[in-house]
Amino acid sequence: MALSASASLAVLSLLLTATSAISSLNATHEGFMKCFLDQTGTSNSSSQLLYSPNTTAYDAILRSSIQNIRFIYSSSTTKPVLIVTATNESHVQAAVVCSRTHGLRVRVRSGGHDYEGMSYVSEGDRFINVDLAALRSVTVDAEHGTAWVQAGATLGEVYYTIAEKNRTVGFSAGVCTTIGVGGHFSGGGIGTLSRKYGTAADNIVDLRLVDANGRILDRESMGEDYFWAIRGGGAASFGIVLSYKIELNYVPPIVTAFNVIKTLKQDATKLVTKWQQIGPNLDENLYIRVIALAKDDDEAEGNRTIQAVFNSLYLGTCKELLTEMGSRFPELGFEAADCNEMSWLESVLFFAGYSGRPTEVLLDRRPEFNSSFKAKSDFVREPVTETTLEEIWRILMEAKDEPLVLIMEPFGGVLDEIAESATPFPHRKGNLYIIQYFMRWFETDVETTERHLNWLRKLYAFMTPYVSKNPRAAYLNYKDIDLGRTATVWGPMYFKNNFNRLASVKCQVDPDNFFGNEQSIPPIKYDYV
Ligand SMILES: Cc1cc2nc3c(=O)[nH]c(=O)nc-3n(C[C@H](O)[C@H](O)[C@H](O)COP(=O)(O)OP(=O)(O)OC[C@H]3O[C@@H](n4cnc5c(N)ncnc54)[C@H](O)[C@@H]3O)c2cc1C
Ligand SMILES: *[C@@H]1O[C@H](CO)[C@@H](O)[C@H](O)[C@H]1NC(C)=O
Ligand SMILES: *[C@@H]1O[C@H](CO)[C@@H](O)[C@H](O)[C@H]1NC(C)=O
Ligand SMILES: *[C@@H]1O[C@H](CO)[C@@H](O)[C@H](O)[C@H]1NC(C)=O
Ligand SMILES: *[C@@H]1O[C@H](CO)[C@@H](O)[C@H](O)[C@H]1NC(C)=O
Ligand SMILES: *[C@@H]1O[C@H](CO)[C@@H](O)[C@H](O)[C@H]1NC(C)=O
Ligand SMILES: *[C@@H]1O[C@H](CO)[C@@H](O)[C@H](O)[C@H]1NC(C)=O
Ligand SMILES: *[C@@H]1O[C@H](CO)[C@@H](O)[C@H](O)[C@H]1NC(C)=O
Repeated sequence: MALSASASLAVLSLLLTATSAISSLNATHEGFMKCFLDQTGTSNSSSQLLYSPNTTAYDAILRSSIQNIRFIYSSSTTKPVLIVTATNESHVQAAVVCSRTHGLRVRVRSGGHDYEGMSYVSEGDRFINVDLAALRSVTVDAEHGTAWVQAGATLGEVYYTIAEKNRTVGFSAGVCTTIGVGGHFSGGGIGTLSRKYGTAADNIVDLRLVDANGRILDRESMGEDYFWAIRGGGAASFGIVLSYKIELNYVPPIVTAFNVIKTLKQDATKLVTKWQQIGPNLDENLYIRVIALAKDDDEAEGNRTIQAVFNSLYLGTCKELLTEMGSRFPELGFEAADCNEMSWLESVLFFAGYSGRPTEVLLDRRPEFNSSFKAKSDFVREPVTETTLEEIWRILMEAKDEPLVLIMEPFGGVLDEIAESATPFPHRKGNLYIIQYFMRWFETDVETTERHLNWLRKLYAFMTPYVSKNPRAAYLNYKDIDLGRTATVWGPMYFKNNFNRLASVKCQVDPDNFFGNEQSIPPIKYDYV
């Protein structure tokens, strides 16, 4: 039985007082450096493992993988005391042991895509940044259809390497190929294959991590509760993942990708209304997501319109797809000319916006934009009416100089068949689709940033009646600091009933909250069933 809400709040505030002691210890990075170099038996001058803010390389390394530059420009964020560019698992262990003994915390970064910058800045914690970009091997066991993937690998590197071994294997994970495996897999991981194979986390069969004592554990030595927590609960609260063992997913030799684009005059509103019912119930080989944004109307100067892109992947040929679309979604007017047959790896390029480029572009880890962004998420359980869609469009069209994008990804398929408690990722049966509200901008001044944040908050407030409630669910990988810093508030939003079990696991494996950040799982002993 779970504790009552007021009892758990009291427990929480006690714990928060106890754990804040960590950051007030005397933290010297000289002490850390000496400890680290002793532990690893290295000398920094030969191995180039440590970067302090007074060195010229520090800034370039700090920025090497980040996607959301506003936290670097912000004067209110705390930057790393030192960056450790680990090239050996033993460096990760030493970073944990030495930061602990020197009163520092650790933030780990794999792909640097964190929506709130929590892998490389803090709100005041003094910390060592462990950058795993160099630990990125992908080792495929073709015979057993599995692979060991180091945490610093990007999705592009994973997709490229497994497809190179065998054209008919893929993996269910996100569409942006510079995402790091370390954060992404542990937060869920959804993309074009998730209706057929579940989240990335659903396909993890083993992992290796460094725990709060600096030990390396695998599934067997960590036990099933700990292993459960990492697959959707966000590894940042529980340790530093070194590598994951994943089960690869079968994909046919030929797949078909397509975009059908509709404006308001082409009935976008009716089609999106209809899609809400069709998309989540399609054959699991067919994934149709909708990306909606406002743009100038080409046919009416000075007017704005909405463009809805039906951005889709079918695990099969064009011929089969035509039959499927004709019977399930004839209103879209899909025809043979819309088909693009290709290999699954080429479809990865198609979704990442790299169509026509050589597949080696997937090995480029550099951030594509160096811009700022803000995103929020919602889950839709009842279709939104046409009238409500029209109101949403109006908000999108009003945000003229601050383009707001809605990305609606269908659930259903296998996602419906997995129990909510099977992994910490609780968004299963009953969800039609997830909406991501997203804005990107290039200016770095405070005022522009605030204007964008306000547009998103306005749309999010407007959406309240139309999305999931009690709790209003959110997706951990689309991390949102607006949900607050109180775990009993954001915890159930990201994890529903799995939050209590996550807090209990945290209590066992990291009772003094060494692995902490602004939205990390607090160590609270709950009884859960
Ligand atoms: C442009 C863009 C597109 C995206 N598209 C998708 C998508 O299609 N589907 C989807 O599901 N998500 C998507 N995401 C979200 C993405 O899944 C998350 O941002 C994810 O957490 C990124 O992982 P990372 O390793 O790149 O990030 P990081 O910033 O390195 O880390 C994210 C969090 O995980 C922690 N972490 C990182 N590595 C480790 C580790 N080895 N051990 C323990 N903790 C670790 C960090 O400390 C931080 O808290 C997208 C993000 C961006 C920016
Ligand atoms: C903290 O460390 C500094 C430098 O090593 C030292 O001078 C100081 O006395 C220490 N303070 C405490 C409270 O230990
Ligand atoms: C570690 O060595 C590299 C290469 O020599 C150097 O650039 C870096 O500044 C050194 N780091 C520290 C903290 O001295
Ligand atoms: C930077 O700081 C480190 C650690 O305090 C020190 O060892 C190093 O000499 C400094 N380097 C420069 C270039 O000032
Ligand atoms: C973004 O910044 C990174 C790191 O500084 C750099 O390598 C990359 O070329 C930049 N990308 C663009 C599009 O400017
Ligand atoms: C990592 O370090 C260990 C021990 O410190 C060493 O035995 C091993 O060879 C190193 N591995 C690599 C790839 O450098
Ligand atoms: C390629 O993967 C498929 C499953 O996706 C498997 O059946 C086949 O045996 C593999 N081929 C090779 C050569 O490993
Ligand atoms: C532009 O929008 C206005 C107001 O909605 C509408 O009255 C007008 O007909 C539109 N112009 C064109 C050319 O469609």
